[in-house]
Amino acid sequence: MNPSKRIVVAGATGYLGSHTTRALKAHGHFIRALVRDKKRLGPAGSVFDEVFEGRATEPETLDGLAEGMDILLSTIGVRQLSRHPTYWQVDRDANLALLEEAERAGTERFIYVSVFGAPSHRSQIDLFEAKEQVTDRLRLSNLRETIIRPTGLFNDMEEIFNMAAQGRVWLFGDGSAEVNPIHGADVGDLVAGLISTDSPSTDVDVGGPEVLTMRGIGELAFEALGKPPRFAVLPLCFLRAAAAVTAPFNRNLAALLGGFHFVNAEGAVAPTTGHRRLQAFFAELAARRFATSNHKIGTACRDE
Ligand SMILES: NC(=O)c1ccc[n+]([C@@H]2O[C@H](COP(=O)([O-])OP(=O)(O)OC[C@H]3O[C@@H](n4cnc5c(N)ncnc54)[C@H](OP(=O)(O)O)[C@@H]3O)[C@@H](O)[C@H]2O)c1
Repeated sequence: MNPSKRIVVAGATGYLGSHTTRALKAHGHFIRALVRDKKRLGPAGSVFDEVFEGRATEPETLDGLAEGMDILLSTIGVRQLSRHPTYWQVDRDANLALLEEAERAGTERFIYVSVFGAPSHRSQIDLFEAKEQVTDRLRLSNLRETIIRPTGLFNDMEEIFNMAAQGRVWLFGDGSAEVNPIHGADVGDLVAGLISTDSPSTDVDVGGPEVLTMRGIGELAFEALGKPPRFAVLPLCFLRAAAAVTAPFNRNLAALLGGFHFVNAEGAVAPTTGHRRLQAFFAELAARRFATSNHKIGTACRDE
């Protein structure tokens, strides 16, 4: 086993970053988290050994971030649909700034999160190109590189759950495309294992333990909610057309639609790891949802 490492986690407040931080802490590593605003951290921040306030999109605020650290791990990426900042500014430029800070500080290893399928589809999907430009640059550096490429994470599957909760899940094409989504904690365990065993792996494609169709994922969501499945179907070409139309106005939305087209047209099944199942994740979401609505009913009755 590798001794305890000093690790900077950029993106530690996000879905994958927070799960990975917990896994790294469980393996005894020291965590310095890069956060945009310390005041917004709340009790969740107590998991970090140190907090460094800075913005990866403003490289001058990163000075000293990686000083004295062994590894820099970045899970930073755009997930919001607002127009700015774009994935060029965050997924590429902010991560390049982190890479340069790691190089300057003499960090030994850089662990970066891209997306499953990005190397083979970078010429078709700009978001994938943006991400892979970071991996190109990483390979030219003296840092040891590890690039993790997950399929859909469970937080993306939550969007399907939310559609089911609203009564209808949209499918693109016939819904038969296959994917093996993965829980953030399973990716976190994998990353912690790679570090603790000092694995020389450079490129790690990773998916969850179950291969499901897009329709099957919708069915699991309805089952968890105790609702009969209801689907609406759009042709696949709709996604491609919508991505092309929105690209000049909103690159982030176009990237989401392009990524969705890739998954629905070709599927995304990566080597499997982990043990956490989507059904259990949806059951947790449903339980939380019912608890919240019961609480609201209870409060309303008390107020009458
Ligand atoms: N979700 C998926 O299905 C999926 C699949 C494959 C690969 N990935 C990749 O996995 C990585 C993590 O995804 P995730 O689902 O964990 O996303 P997430 O929960 O949205 O976390 C993204 C992180 O990036 C940070 N970030 C976003 N915009 C930023 C900006 N303008 N400046 C500084 N920081 C910014 C966020 O900071 P704040 O917490 O301060 O907002 C957050 O910590 C991403 O690179 C994503 O592309 C995701």
